[in-house]
Amino acid sequence: MATNADTIAFRNALGSFATGVTIVTTRDAAGRDCGLTANSFNSVSLDPPMVLWSLARSSMSMEAFRGADHFAVHILAADQEPLSNGFAKRGADKFAALTPERGAGGVPLLPGCAARFQCRTAYQYEGGDHIIFVGEVIAFDHDDRAPLLFHGGRYALAARKAAALTASEAADAEAPGSFGEDFLGYLLGRAHFQLYGRMQDSLVQHGLDAADHFIVTILGIRDGRTAEEVGEMIGFTGARITPQQVASLAARGLIRPDAASGRLWLTDTGRRVMIELAAAAKAAEEEALGAFDDNETALLKHLLKHVIRHTDPGLPDPWASAGEI
Ligand SMILES: Cc1cc2nc3c(=O)[nH]c(=O)nc-3n(C[C@H](O)[C@H](O)[C@H](O)COP(=O)(O)O)c2cc1C
Repeated sequence: MATNADTIAFRNALGSFATGVTIVTTRDAAGRDCGLTANSFNSVSLDPPMVLWSLARSSMSMEAFRGADHFAVHILAADQEPLSNGFAKRGADKFAALTPERGAGGVPLLPGCAARFQCRTAYQYEGGDHIIFVGEVIAFDHDDRAPLLFHGGRYALAARKAAALTASEAADAEAPGSFGEDFLGYLLGRAHFQLYGRMQDSLVQHGLDAADHFIVTILGIRDGRTAEEVGEMIGFTGARITPQQVASLAARGLIRPDAASGRLWLTDTGRRVMIELAAAAKAAEEEALGAFDDNETALLKHLLKHVIRHTDPGLPDPWASAGEI
């Protein structure tokens, strides 16, 4: 008999196999909706179209699936992690906040998935502590959404693998701590300056330097901040906000400093310039991300946010509302 440690080791080894994440739903004999998160899903046959998944004998949904003529498998999209977590809760009323559509046999169908397969229960097999359900697919639909993945016991996102590394890239990758082309600071810095370089024309056109741009942008997110508050928010860039700079932006009609409160407001002209700069920044971003699909873009931003969180010295959040700061 396997020990607990054997079972854990076996589970960990199985976790090396990256899978998608599904929710399998059905309707029990009393007409109640039930379902659970499952990654044991697999394709079986193309003709006739068949799929399988396995259900733990301990599942509270066992009786419902054992007795059901139909079930539906939903392949989850990358943004459906909360739904996956909800359906992984044992015995919970998982449909409480949902208004599902109805599929074959009245089974509940969830929206927003990457793909859905409505199945007739074709076979049920004994599989140790699981029951294997094989379904004949009688209807399916598919949306071009990035899938949610599961690997090593954690959710993951899919990214297409880049072309084979060149010899020098491979050497850099092998020595991750080395100060080479793969040095994170170099990669982030170079990406930043190249991206920013694309916006340079717009800044020059408005006679603004980088510090002016940061100030106008911070006030564009929310104005009525003091110069000190703006200074704290842009300090990480190395830019400073000086009284001369405030006076110069005011003289050019972009901001209106309130002498009594010390707060800075964007003028109509300032807001128009800020919007034009934001549009130029968005265009530069789109150009930079041109080679990526939506999923890779989400992955890149997700990883960059991680780096930002791990290196944050405690900067104030420019997007926090006035009451939160
Ligand atoms: C990513 C993921 C994959 C899972 N895969 C399966 C699976 O294939 N089969 C299974 O029986 N349980 C699987 N589970 C666990 C069930 O979702 C969980 O035990 C759930 O509470 C069962 O609900 P029930 O007891 O109400 O039926 C998985 C959970 C997660 C988070």
